[in-house]
Amino acid sequence: MSSIYIHWPFCLSKCYYCDFNSIPQTGKINFIQWYRLYCNVLTEFKRRFYKNEDITSVYFGGGTPSLLPVWFISDFIDNVQKEFRLTPDAEITLEVNPKTIDKIKAMELKEAGVNRLSIGVQSIIDEDLKMLGRIHTSEEAKRCVFDMREVFSNISIDMIYNRPNQKIATWEEELIQVLNFPINHISAYELIVEDNTKIKKMIDSGNVKSPSDSDEFFKKTLKIMQNTGFDMYEVSNFAKDGALASSVCGGGPVWFNIQVYHAAPPPIPYGRHNISYWKYEDYYGVGPGSHSRVSVNNKKIAIEQPQDSAKWMIWGENPIFNEEPLSEDDEFKERVIMGLRFKGGINLNKFTESAKNKYDIKNKLKSLEENSYIITDDEYVALTYSGIMKLNLVIRYLTKE
Ligand SMILES: C[S@@+](CC[C@H](N)C(=O)[O-])C[C@H]1O[C@@H](n2cnc3c(N)ncnc32)[C@H](O)[C@@H]1O
Ligand code: SF4
Repeated sequence: MSSIYIHWPFCLSKCYYCDFNSIPQTGKINFIQWYRLYCNVLTEFKRRFYKNEDITSVYFGGGTPSLLPVWFISDFIDNVQKEFRLTPDAEITLEVNPKTIDKIKAMELKEAGVNRLSIGVQSIIDEDLKMLGRIHTSEEAKRCVFDMREVFSNISIDMIYNRPNQKIATWEEELIQVLNFPINHISAYELIVEDNTKIKKMIDSGNVKSPSDSDEFFKKTLKIMQNTGFDMYEVSNFAKDGALASSVCGGGPVWFNIQVYHAAPPPIPYGRHNISYWKYEDYYGVGPGSHSRVSVNNKKIAIEQPQDSAKWMIWGENPIFNEEPLSEDDEFKERVIMGLRFKGGINLNKFTESAKNKYDIKNKLKSLEENSYIITDDEYVALTYSGIMKLNLVIRYLTKE
């Protein structure tokens, strides 16, 4: 089982907090040429690594892939279907900026095979949207979600919290309001102030306040989600699943209902594509700066593509992968970092015996369990509520030799 990620690097303009590999779109884009290059790279993945396994999700991310013409997305999905074993119920997600879509385009995208949207709302306070450098108003974001819901049943939104000058009480109100939108999934990210972003300069120059460094926003977010029936199945991701919402990571009434999180495929509205990352399954990434993890003889290989769009276009004419086999240590650490964020936890059987011994896993798990940071059985280990609050500490402890 694998997935495919497509990175479209252009946006209408650069948001002040964003350090993703994205640049404002200037001038005319030759979509035909870009399309040919994406297919080239995908073909090379097929030739080099594809083992005829099922492809269970395709994710158009960016940047702003909702700026792509519908034919591009439609033909790309057709191409994946032709060249790979795309499962009939595959999750096909498109990231959407509210300013770049209307109902007609949405209907065409649905026709093309897209079945899930992830809409960047970020905030529904106009003043804050301006401060974040977003190009849409609160009303436009809200209208976008409601319009899209008339076309798609599977809708996620992105929100950012712990913003400069934000008060916890206003976040509470804002979050409760957006949870009443017709959505079944939400990604709520705590703002990361990245170097070389405009927001960093605004903070450094004293124009806006630094975000709070306590975990009060995160705790409040968790509580509201739980009370409104959204299940936190990853640190920043919540699926509307009232039955499971009260089982906060490993601390709920019935352990963490592990079978739900490891079902193949995970039930809607859980984000299948991201779950495959946290479970450390293979994925083929295509586009400037995209990453891939592919298995060869049960060992993971990392592949990174040129970041710069112009360089990527030259590279994509005759793509030769820069393959970096991961060492046992790298793979162990990545599994821990990805898996611990996930409510389904880490499958211990995926660790090699030598890694388990080297990192003294048995004793460390025993000590973490005694301190109520994890819950574990012979097969899986997942964080409890207290463990989630100490995520980085637990990761450091487990990955230290
Ligand atoms: C590629 S963008 C999503 C789609 C589209 N580009 C948009 O912004 O509308 C991925 C998401 O990451 C989140 N994000 C980006 N930079 C962030 C930062 N510095 N701190 C927290 N969240 C961030 C935002 O919520 C954003 O919607
Ligand atoms: S947050 Fe989204 S729209 Fe804004 S610059 Fe980053 S990728 Fe582009």
